[in-house]
Amino acid sequence: MKKKLLSLILAGTMAFAMAACGSTSGSTSSDSSASSDSSTSSDASASSDSTASTDKTVGIAMPTKSLERWNRDGSYLQKQFESKGYKVELTYSDNKIDQQVKDIEGLIADKVDILVVAAIDGESLSQVLADAKDNNIPVISYDRLIMNTDAISYYVSFDNYTVGTLQGKYIVDTLDLDNAAGPFNIEFTGGDPADNNATYFFNGAMDVLKPYIDSGKLVVPSGQTTFEQCGTAQWDTSKAMSRMQNILGSYYSDGTQLDAALCSNDSTALGVTQAIESDYAGSNTVVITGQDGDEANLKNIVDGKQSMTVYKAVANEAVATLDLAVAILNGETPDESLISNSGWDFDCSYDTKSYDNGTGIIPSYLLVPTVVTKDNLDDALVTPGYYTKDSDGYLHPVG
Ligand code: GAL
Repeated sequence: MKKKLLSLILAGTMAFAMAACGSTSGSTSSDSSASSDSSTSSDASASSDSTASTDKTVGIAMPTKSLERWNRDGSYLQKQFESKGYKVELTYSDNKIDQQVKDIEGLIADKVDILVVAAIDGESLSQVLADAKDNNIPVISYDRLIMNTDAISYYVSFDNYTVGTLQGKYIVDTLDLDNAAGPFNIEFTGGDPADNNATYFFNGAMDVLKPYIDSGKLVVPSGQTTFEQCGTAQWDTSKAMSRMQNILGSYYSDGTQLDAALCSNDSTALGVTQAIESDYAGSNTVVITGQDGDEANLKNIVDGKQSMTVYKAVANEAVATLDLAVAILNGETPDESLISNSGWDFDCSYDTKSYDNGTGIIPSYLLVPTVVTKDNLDDALVTPGYYTKDSDGYLHPVG
């Protein structure tokens, strides 16, 4: 394992505890769960690289603490930048669009040197990021592409379309759609329409599954097959649960069997799993997909209630973001060579074709997601050091 990532993970337990408590380095957090904790971050966890020092500050705007992965993202990013001697101001905006605008305004007023932003609503930051541009603050669009602004220079994420295709292919393979007689019944649960990623996930899955729907091998009893019909505002677990309860009540109460539930991520998969537990009359195991490797979902995978998750190693996403930001702050114009020059031990592609945010193509560093099932939990998550496993066989995130 690469030195940088190993030191990060070794120090990670503490950083995760800090993030879970809502502590931030810049005390600018506005997430509701964070504001109850008035303590600001000590720098005790800072700089695992004692040779580094800089007077520069990085402003990091995360969407919310209520979705587990962003706690890990914030924690890893903070740890990476602090390890190189950067000061960090980290905000969480409680999934409230106006709050995120205010938080970014605050970071600009604090004269941060660079912004790393995971948008709540990809369409709502044009104005505030124009201010960032006016103040010569470069912006990295983190994980979710920010739309309709020429203020962002780079996008760091995973290959979002591939996430969807992996979920779709998992269903094809598990139901053996190419060989089994079928037909099989499936329902779709998509992500937040405000999140640009959500359509990539949905389209990736649908592109794989649509031929089987067209041929009649897959049937969607609810008839809900468009992203507009299947989206879940704010990726909210209870909204996903209510919608699936309605579908089960309307289309499955006569004994119709549900074979698969395509869910774009883990927070929605959690809701769908709960709906199936409470409102589904059948006794078969429903194939349920997810994304992120959230702790509760990994428990469901161990317990056989969720079939898979697409894991995105956000520890590596933080490493890529750090190296990109350092290059930008050094006055370089990063390109494909950043990947080889940085010596990353994870796969990443440089893409200058796929992500147009309405003002033109945004050069993108895209990491590679991994399918995780009960069979490869150890190899994919525990061995690399991302999670620990307790004596009951359940996994807990590190960092
Ligand atoms: C997406 C992200 C996913 C998932 C979802 C909900 O933008 O790419 O990994 O976390 O948001 O937070």
